[in-house]
Amino acid sequence: MTHEATAQESSEPDPPRDSSKILDTPLARDVATSLRGERPSIPCRYLYDDRGSRLFDEITLQPEYYLTRTEEAILEQHADAIVARAAPHELVELGSGTGKKVPTLLQAVKRAGMPAKLVLFEINAAMINASVARVKREHPEVQVTGVVGTFPDELQRLGPGGDRLVLFLGSTLGNQHPAQVPGFLTRVAQQMHPGDDLLLGLDLVKDPARLEAAYNDAAGVTASFSLNLLSVLNRELGADFDASAFEHVAVWEAESSWIRIALRARRDQHVRVPGAGVELRLRAGQEIQTEVSCKYTRPMLEQRLAGTGLALDQWHTDAHEDFAVALLRREADADPTR
Ligand code: TRP
Repeated sequence: MTHEATAQESSEPDPPRDSSKILDTPLARDVATSLRGERPSIPCRYLYDDRGSRLFDEITLQPEYYLTRTEEAILEQHADAIVARAAPHELVELGSGTGKKVPTLLQAVKRAGMPAKLVLFEINAAMINASVARVKREHPEVQVTGVVGTFPDELQRLGPGGDRLVLFLGSTLGNQHPAQVPGFLTRVAQQMHPGDDLLLGLDLVKDPARLEAAYNDAAGVTASFSLNLLSVLNRELGADFDASAFEHVAVWEAESSWIRIALRARRDQHVRVPGAGVELRLRAGQEIQTEVSCKYTRPMLEQRLAGTGLALDQWHTDAHEDFAVALLRREADADPTR
């Protein structure tokens, strides 16, 4: 009998053939669990290696991907109102990528005559170095620090704050499974002080055709971005994925209010991922889940905020209500001894 993790037989944890190749890295550990089971998946944070980060940057420039430019327009229009309310002494951007969004807010902070301190939080080290260098060049008076890490847990590395404005833009909250959002926001709130603020960028529910087009751009950049995940596993875990045997799928599922993104096997195949000790048998048509991108409404956000310690304070949208920028205030603790 063979010991292979097949997509159908999830109950039997299969011993790998050659355990000497199993790596002890976060990616190896994550994938060892996520690729097994009936619904194999790969956590989306691994999309952002150097090539993936560059491809994502290119996605934001595609005509169908309205999200980034709409968010930027909302920020430009409302940055002064946001800064007036939050009165931040420090901006902290989570998942800053190339760090192109923060200048709009920095300018508003400067217009308000406030001292500007900036912390960029990123999981890709190359990205963070480039972003920090860029801010230093363009805003030499701003004190800027880059932190490589994942949030919210590593937010505590920032030390005590106060008057902080935390930025979580780009509809990145939407990439969390809805069931995990209240817990995630609660943990972020716990790292904030009463009076600190969180600025969220959220993509809104709209015509499904436009939503699907944003994740299926005609130039195929999103498809390359998705498929790049397989190259990450090939390189980092010695896997033998053949990217041409998969296709990128992104579909709107109204009942969950998300775009579900997956890699679909074009044919039956057998893939080895030695670094994670996994062997995967896929039938043609079977999918590896990579990402969800949830689309919000204001009531949906309010519902997910309940009990997190964060309250909706400002809600800004573009004229077509395609995208929203929400300012959330960290409430005072009910129990001041906590
Ligand atoms: N935060 C982005 C979004 O949800 C991430 C993203 C854009 C993405 N395009 C993608 C993730 C394609 C995976 C695949 O819009």
